[in-house]
Amino acid sequence: MSETSCPNNNSIIELYTDLANNPEKDFGWDKGIKNAINHRYKDAWLQTIPEQVWKYCAAVGNPFELGTFNEGDSVLDIGCGAGVDLCIASLLVGKTGKVFGVDLTPAMIELANDNAKVSGLSNVRAYEGSFENLPIDDQSINIVISNGAINLATHKEQVFSEIFRVLSVGGALYFSDMIKDENNSASSSCHGGSWTDCVAGTLRSDELMQLMKNTGFSDIERVSLTHYKTSDSTIGATFKAFKN
Ligand SMILES: C[S@@+](CC[C@H](N)C(=O)[O-])C[C@H]1O[C@@H](n2cnc3c(N)ncnc32)[C@H](O)[C@@H]1O
Repeated sequence: MSETSCPNNNSIIELYTDLANNPEKDFGWDKGIKNAINHRYKDAWLQTIPEQVWKYCAAVGNPFELGTFNEGDSVLDIGCGAGVDLCIASLLVGKTGKVFGVDLTPAMIELANDNAKVSGLSNVRAYEGSFENLPIDDQSINIVISNGAINLATHKEQVFSEIFRVLSVGGALYFSDMIKDENNSASSSCHGGSWTDCVAGTLRSDELMQLMKNTGFSDIERVSLTHYKTSDSTIGATFKAFKN
């Protein structure tokens, strides 16, 4: 499978800085608290995390439905955006757990750290960086999550390889992402706008699962399709995989 080499990181940073600065703007895809409710984010989270944080929820699915998060776990969210899922992970792992985020867009990192602070969560740290080269130690994480971000990577196998490196043995990867909708094969060509908008960088689910397998993951499963759409030819899906 060939991976095209577009776009450059600047166009990604430009779009997601715009989202960070203008969370109410229409980018052509669902976001905000209604989006969280559509993905069955729990009432308890909606009530505990302040309303101002939810407007940034650009979730494609709900990674928290994919497995168990225990008190004391270390969780990493790659492409964490403004940190909504970091806050939820923090509630789930409690004060003895640790939650890290990595995102390419500096404005998102600033928001993620601020949103954790306004939510009163002290065990969250978000770092600027690429998920193709994670600023995280080997085998230091129990659970990696991601939501609507991996499709934006040019080198997706490298992303899975980095996730595998930072996970401890027995660790889990739970993520949601946009994939090609196999019931609508309209081709999506590679031009900057459609890549940064989570369209042109998508793969079929079998292609994505093969990349996970290549990097060492086992028990790989596409769990569900979500309602989420970024174009006629793409659809949201959830996946899980393990480092055994
Ligand atoms: C659609 S947003 C999703 C944000 C968040 N996960 C959520 O559910 O609201 C995608 C995020 O991925 C980030 N991103 C894109 N490419 C990245 C890369 N190579 N490394 C790290 N983050 C990246 C963007 O900056 C953006 O914040």
